[in-house]
Amino acid sequence: MQREHWASRLGFMLAAMGSAVGLGNIWRFSYVAGENGGGAFLVLYMVSVLIIGIPLLLVEVSIGRKAQRDIVGSYKKLVPDKPWFMVGYLGVLATLLILSFYSVVAGWSLYYLWGYITGDMAQMPLDGYGATFDTFISRDYAPVFWHGLFMIFTMVIVLVGVKNGIELANKILMPVLALLMIGLAVYSVTLPGSGEGLAFLFQPDWSVLKDPAVYFSAMGQAFFSLSLGIGTMMTYGSYLSKSQKLPGAVVGIGVMDTLFAVISGIVIFPAVFAFGIDPSSGPTLVFITLPEIFYQMSFGNVIAVIFFMALSFAAISSSISLLEVPVAYLMRAAKMSRKAASLLVSIGVFISGVTVSLGMGRWSGVTPIGNRNILDSMDYIASNVLMPICGLSMALLVGWYFNRKEALHASDLNNNQIGGTWYLLIKFIAPILILIIFLNEIVNV
Ligand code: PFF
Ligand code: NA
Repeated sequence: MQREHWASRLGFMLAAMGSAVGLGNIWRFSYVAGENGGGAFLVLYMVSVLIIGIPLLLVEVSIGRKAQRDIVGSYKKLVPDKPWFMVGYLGVLATLLILSFYSVVAGWSLYYLWGYITGDMAQMPLDGYGATFDTFISRDYAPVFWHGLFMIFTMVIVLVGVKNGIELANKILMPVLALLMIGLAVYSVTLPGSGEGLAFLFQPDWSVLKDPAVYFSAMGQAFFSLSLGIGTMMTYGSYLSKSQKLPGAVVGIGVMDTLFAVISGIVIFPAVFAFGIDPSSGPTLVFITLPEIFYQMSFGNVIAVIFFMALSFAAISSSISLLEVPVAYLMRAAKMSRKAASLLVSIGVFISGVTVSLGMGRWSGVTPIGNRNILDSMDYIASNVLMPICGLSMALLVGWYFNRKEALHASDLNNNQIGGTWYLLIKFIAPILILIIFLNEIVNV
């Protein structure tokens, strides 16, 4: 059977941007930045995107385009005689872990969307939005319902085939999301006390750089936010035909994703300080600050509906890219139909997500890694360990297994200054940085 392809380069770019821009930019970025001191973290994060993220994004997409296979198949095809494909399995594992908690958090977003549609959310709860949210996520059934619903949406789109649904949805939703975020940012900046929030984000307190954990978190956030290293971009790249030029597309994806993160920081932090919320309060941060903002705004209710709709769609355009990795793998390796593969993986992810959801309540005492609950542990393994390891491996493959000419050619670069700089970054600088940051964290754990 013929493999599917994008209709156009724009279709690929939109899908890849859809994968990159998601909960990571709003939900994860704001609380990770909050936990790691704000401004100095933002600088490290941007440096990571520039010297590790974007160069590796080009590596990943070009491997996929060259091999025209899923992640495991791509490694097998390009290096038939060595066990590089093991990295592919790690990538598949990472997508399953991420999707398990991503879908739970996206379920929270759907719940909010529904709450604003019905109007229930518009009334300020007696004990405030924070306490009400904590009560909701610690319940046994309700959050699992929304997680299941989100997985069904994700499954249906992947099941139909990536091409038709996603390309169109992204074309409409990405600009809407951008406009809304900018509008919210303008509003948030006018809140009394917003200066403190902006200072937190834009006036770096360099003393946090003494802590190796900050570098580790910045790198993990860059990988997570760019959907990097674990096969989503490789699989999407594999649906590109050889005639499409990559470098410009990849830079566009990286810049867009970073822009979304900065803007959402401008939305969140002024409100965090204006409402006296602790910026290091973790994964629930945006779900507590945003309702406070909407409550204060005129027409806040309407804006909230549109916002949570956009957020939910941004989440879906990322979750389908996550689901596509194991599905593409099973379609080739187990010769399953797209339908059967989507169904099987979605059921598995649903069950694994139930443990994540219970980990916010009944099982909150279960802390597999350090003092992290189930969600944070899965996220830690996937984003801070598996993504950098897989990213490092693909840099080594293209930097060291390919020769210089092959590497440049695969990525549509020429032997000029840009090509040379990229090659230097992926061959030496990015691998060394990843290793140093990684070992530093492991030693200090
Ligand atoms: N990049 C997405 C976000 O920022 O929300 C999340 C994500 C998608 C991570 C796909 C990893 C991935 F493979
Ligand atoms: Na992102």
